[in-house]
Amino acid sequence: MATTNRYIDVKPLAGALGAEVFGADLSRPIAEAAFDEIREAFADHLVLMFRNQRLTPEQHLAFSRRFGPLTRSPYIKHMDEYPDIIAVLKEADEVKISTFGNAWHSDFSFLEEPPMGSALYAREVPSHGGDTLFANMYAAYDALSDGMRALLDRLNAIHTGKPYGVQGIPKDLRVSRSIGIERNKPAADRETVHPVVRVHPVTGRKALFVNAIYTTRFEGMTPAESKPLLDFLYAHATQPEFTCRLRWAEGSLALWDNRCAMHYAINDYDGQRRLMHRTTIAGERPAGPQGGPRRDAA
Ligand code: SIN
Repeated sequence: MATTNRYIDVKPLAGALGAEVFGADLSRPIAEAAFDEIREAFADHLVLMFRNQRLTPEQHLAFSRRFGPLTRSPYIKHMDEYPDIIAVLKEADEVKISTFGNAWHSDFSFLEEPPMGSALYAREVPSHGGDTLFANMYAAYDALSDGMRALLDRLNAIHTGKPYGVQGIPKDLRVSRSIGIERNKPAADRETVHPVVRVHPVTGRKALFVNAIYTTRFEGMTPAESKPLLDFLYAHATQPEFTCRLRWAEGSLALWDNRCAMHYAINDYDGQRRLMHRTTIAGERPAGPQGGPRRDAA
């Protein structure tokens, strides 16, 4: 049901997550009371879409910084003039090449303090295709059996950036050269331990926190031993009932919560150019149901 607040209107996009926000001009400073309504909608819907925005990179940065400090990419080349923005680009001539983010993931989950959110602004979009899917990881956790939830509550998982965004995408595809992936980056190559179930610091709800790009195994298990359960969790979490789909237009800005949602960039627009600017908002070390691990992988 649509919600009318004092400053913004919020219209859900699907049953599971995602909402469009009306009445916010992100190019202007937003009063604290109106921003509180945006924060509340963000906690309720996990993914917010603001359409018909006309933003300079400075305005995109200023809006993103209202949520907290920004974090720089550990392995993707940032824009020369804007080190806090990455250009998510696939050129029209990059045919049979994967788009960046073309497998279910939570951004840079391998960082010790993974980003709380990301704000993606559409500068140039294909005439059709290039949508982004999102999955609600609270809903995925809540739908599991008591036994499985109790098991997962006790597990940790290892995340690494070393696949450089390619783990999980079809094996015969390379990721678009236009994304500017840099390799041999110590900040990306390291392994980090995170709880498999994390407690959201704002809502207090539990969400699954494993993903196909960056999670390699459960702590204390081999990749082969981990794979069946990880594959089950990915298939479970991405059932259509837990997802929503965002269709982009030039000037759309989507803000998502990496702590409780995964996303997937659909690679179905070969022959057309797609250019998005992404800011990434710093987050905190994930806390598990028992407080979470506070150490690096052995
Ligand atoms: C990303 O994973 O940040 C990219 C999402 C997209 O381009 O739709």
